[in-house]
Amino acid sequence: MEKRIVTKPSLSALTSEGAGIHVRWMIRRDMPDVLAIEHEAFEFPWSEEDFTRSLRQRTCIGMVAEYADSVVAFMIYELHRTRLHVLNFAVLRSHRRLGIGTQMLRRLIAKLAPERRSRIVLEVRETNLPAQLFFRAAGFRAVTVLRDFYRDSDEDAYLMQFGLEAAGVASEPRRLAG
Ligand SMILES: CC(C)(COP(=O)(O)OP(=O)(O)OC[C@H]1O[C@@H](n2cnc3c(N)ncnc32)[C@H](O)[C@@H]1OP(=O)(O)O)[C@@H](O)C(=O)NCCC(=O)NCCS
Repeated sequence: MEKRIVTKPSLSALTSEGAGIHVRWMIRRDMPDVLAIEHEAFEFPWSEEDFTRSLRQRTCIGMVAEYADSVVAFMIYELHRTRLHVLNFAVLRSHRRLGIGTQMLRRLIAKLAPERRSRIVLEVRETNLPAQLFFRAAGFRAVTVLRDFYRDSDEDAYLMQFGLEAAGVASEPRRLAG
C-alpha cells in the first residue's frame, strides 16, 4: 500500500468555517493517513483490522476530509433505518479548532431527512470533554449514560443524539444547528 506523508499545510487559508476543506468518500489508499490520525487521537485506537471489518459492511460508510491534498480528518458511520450511528470520528491534532470537524458533521446532517433517517447518534467517553463540547456545540444532546460501555476501560459512555426536529431544522436539513 502506498505510504503517504501528511505534510502540515499552511493553515492560514483555513477559517473557522472550514474553507478549503474537501470532504469525500474514504478509499483504501487513505488507510495509512486514517490510522495515523486514529493513533494520535485515541488512547485505545482501532486497528487496521477494526477499520476494514467495519467498512466491509454494506451499511458502513467512511468519509475523509482533505486539506491541501492531505487527509486531515475522517469519520466512520453506519446507516440504520431511522438513524445514522457515528462509530469513529477524529481530526488531526494540528488541524483542530479550525472548523474541520464541524464541516464533516454538516455533511452528515445534510443526509438526514425528516420522514426517514432523522437522527444521528454516537457514544462519547465520559472523560472526553472536548468531544462532548464539540458535539454539543453542533446541536447534539446527551440522552443516556451507557454504563461500562467499553471493553478497554471501566468508563461509562454518554449516548449523544442530534435530531432534526429537536434542532429545529426539519425544514432546513442542510443547516447545522448551534
Ligand atoms: C472532537 C474533534 C473531532 C473536534 O474537531 P475540530 O475540527 O477540532 O472541531 P471544530 O473546529 O469544528 O470545533 C467546533 C466547535 O466545537 C467546540 N470544540 C471543539 N473542540 C473543543 C475543545 N477541545 N474544547 C472546547 N470546545 C471545543 C467549540 O465550540 C468549537 O468552536 P470554536 O473553535 O469556534 O470555539 C477533535 O477534537 C478530535 O479529533 N478529537 C479527538 C478524537 C475524538 O475525541 N473524537 C470523538 C470521539 S466520540
